[in-house]
Amino acid sequence: FGSASTKIQRNPLFATITSDDISHFKELLGEKNVIQDRDRLLTANMDWMRKYEGSSQLLLQPRSTDEVSQILKYCNSRHLAVVPQGGNTGLVGGSVPVFDEVIINIGSMNNVISLDKVSGILVCEAGCILENLDSFLANQGFIMPLDLGAKGSCQIGGNVSTNAGGLRFIRYGSLHGSVLGLEAVLANGSVLDMLGTLRKDNTGYDLKHLFIGSEGTLGIITKISILTPPRLSSVNLAFLACKDYLSCQKLLQEAKRTLGEVLSAFEFLDSYSMDMVLTHLEGVRNPLPPSTYNFYILIETTGSSESYDKEKLEAFLLCSMEGGLISDGVVAQDINQASSFWRIREGIAEALMKAGAVYKYDLSLPVEQLYNVVNEMRSRLGPSAKVLGYGHLGDGNLHLNISTPEYDDTVFAQIEPFVYEWTSKHRGSISAEHGLGLMKANKIHYSKSSETVQLMASIKKLLDPNGIMNPYKVLPH
Ligand code: FAD
Ligand code: MLT
Ligand code: ZN
Repeated sequence: FGSASTKIQRNPLFATITSDDISHFKELLGEKNVIQDRDRLLTANMDWMRKYEGSSQLLLQPRSTDEVSQILKYCNSRHLAVVPQGGNTGLVGGSVPVFDEVIINIGSMNNVISLDKVSGILVCEAGCILENLDSFLANQGFIMPLDLGAKGSCQIGGNVSTNAGGLRFIRYGSLHGSVLGLEAVLANGSVLDMLGTLRKDNTGYDLKHLFIGSEGTLGIITKISILTPPRLSSVNLAFLACKDYLSCQKLLQEAKRTLGEVLSAFEFLDSYSMDMVLTHLEGVRNPLPPSTYNFYILIETTGSSESYDKEKLEAFLLCSMEGGLISDGVVAQDINQASSFWRIREGIAEALMKAGAVYKYDLSLPVEQLYNVVNEMRSRLGPSAKVLGYGHLGDGNLHLNISTPEYDDTVFAQIEPFVYEWTSKHRGSISAEHGLGLMKANKIHYSKSSETVQLMASIKKLLDPNGIMNPYKVLPH
């Protein structure tokens, strides 16, 4: 099915699992953490989109850094390839085996280690689920600096390994800024303690950044230290309609200028995305009266003064309405209404899955250019496909999704390489926040020079000379 059909050969240098290996792992981890059960392996072999499927016979569940270290040391000496798996919500085929790689999931390593209530620095094991961390922090007066639709399943280790962006990026920035330290285990089992809890530390190369966004190809992240902002009491959410893309851009400009310090999300979806959600998700309705709006925008503000923030948002909305930037809009009156607005935006990926086949692209582009690729794709494909544009407009990140009843090579040939060439021509990135995984390993040249890719390959070779860590992913085959 299209992009997943990359033809690759299993690396013959990798060994295959023997009964001695199984005995070794059972001795190391205990019987119940060495999973060979067919149903559990079926789930672990298949990605969230049901697009990529491996044939691993073994899932390991270590409970400590030492166990991760011993597993990797053994696999390295035996030339057994491995795939680190978190919540398995990745969207580029990076979290599942391609062939028979051993799956290592550190979901049992899910303890909070410490929270410094003065600085907001949280230290935790990498298997913690994002939503659990956010709930823990809510009780302590803090908030995770990232939020995404997959929060109920994804692990913070997976988030850091993909350098996930999400819905709060516009306010709190990249994980390259918030992650202060890491503990990671290399392929040979050595444990790198980079678990600093300092905001400033210029002692030599900052190696943790290599692991942020490395998608499990350089080592397994086992612990994380992350700066969490204070949880502010006043949150407002507006759901707005715009008649055209130019109005969306102007609204973004205005929001940045006038909402400034309280702006915490600026998300958009087009009417095709709205239709997709309304058709495929139960209990979802458009909060605005049926009309012919082309675009919808969610603007969230987060601040510390209820009256001041509300006044600010209302003045902004009034001015934007008078100026014709907004055609209609509604502000959530309570937390339930706010979550029903978020459900529309966060539910698009799920709705697309229910609709059939989906060709998924995650592009960074200059905001003025961003929607042109959606229009061009629509005219290329005609009525044979539904072309959706949505995403993190405030960060210049478009999710271009093409939905068809089933995967179709003729449609695929119309999409690729066009979408990558278009992005490269406009100096965009072919992966804004999802990573390269298996899907785009061979496409890296559209966004990176060959010298850069060569240096990446040298770093990979240095850290993982046998290439056992998540093979076939990220770097070209
Ligand atoms: P997995 O999917 O299990 O793994 C992802 C990659 O990280 C794989 O390459 C894997 O090998 C590696 N990995 C996982 N854990 C470790 C570890 N401990 N050490 C080393 N490597 C590891 N992404 C965004 O950026 N923004 C969004 O808004 C967003 N929204 C999403 C919404 C939905 C509904 C879904 C399904 C996905 C979304 N994603 C989004 C994509 C996805 O990247 C994130 O969900 C998340 O960061 C992946 O975390 P995970 O624990 O599921 O990792
Ligand atoms: C989102 O922003 O909704 C996610 O990145 C998932 C997707 O791209 O579909
Ligand atoms: Zn996204």
